[in-house]
Amino acid sequence: MQAWVIGNWKQNPATNHDAMALADALLSATAKEFDKKTCQLMVAPSCIHLATVSARLQDSSLLCAAQDISTHSASIGAYTGDCSAEQIADAGATWTLLGHSERRQYHKECNDILVQKMRNALTQDLGIVFCVGETQAQYDAKQTLDVLTEQLAVIPTLLQQAEQTADCADILAKRLIIAYEPVWAIGTGKVPTVAEVSATHEYIKQTVASFAAPLADINVLYGGSVNAANADNFAASPMINGALVGGAALNAESFLTIADAFARAKA
Ligand code: PGA
Repeated sequence: MQAWVIGNWKQNPATNHDAMALADALLSATAKEFDKKTCQLMVAPSCIHLATVSARLQDSSLLCAAQDISTHSASIGAYTGDCSAEQIADAGATWTLLGHSERRQYHKECNDILVQKMRNALTQDLGIVFCVGETQAQYDAKQTLDVLTEQLAVIPTLLQQAEQTADCADILAKRLIIAYEPVWAIGTGKVPTVAEVSATHEYIKQTVASFAAPLADINVLYGGSVNAANADNFAASPMINGALVGGAALNAESFLTIADAFARAKA
């Protein structure tokens, strides 16, 4: 089974020059030594770097994603500061992250907004990496599964609102990936045990499968302080289909070491 390793560059790097240097470092290494069949690589640059990075990666096996899209319109409109799904697709992205905890925290993104964003993404044929995860307080209170149930409720709402629910489920089966990212593990160096992540992924897979039969084989990635040293542990679990990587994705060598760990484990 093909793994997915995705680099979320967040609001990095500071310059287009450095974004291109990171893209070039990934390209030269993947061309030489990386087995692309066993692991699909994707990077999500900031919106301002998306077009140049995706143009540079165009003839490679690396895919490009946006980190977010506009809620208000999938196309054009008077929405100052927003980038639509159509603009993102035109800039060369084929996927978008949605529901990252930093969007939920700093931009108050709730389920209603995320349903609309998902719908906008699908109208432009974008794949969706949907991020879910509990805070430290919720983890401590053993509320993780309740939080995930509530966050995943976006999917049945989307299915119910679709004109053809069965068609929508078939499309989501091809274009939806879930990224489980405990908020307390993001950028902190703290990680849950592989057993904890595996049990949580099993719950996510069962929950998503219960929404519609075509969603039985959904990929679930782990994110939160994944690095070159711990990637092998996560990759060894059959429940973990890849990684969403933040800090360690800003260095081509560490990102590709993580990708290699998943490629070897899933080969
Ligand atoms: P991190 O970020 O790898 O730096 O913890 C992951 C993410 O936010 O997607």
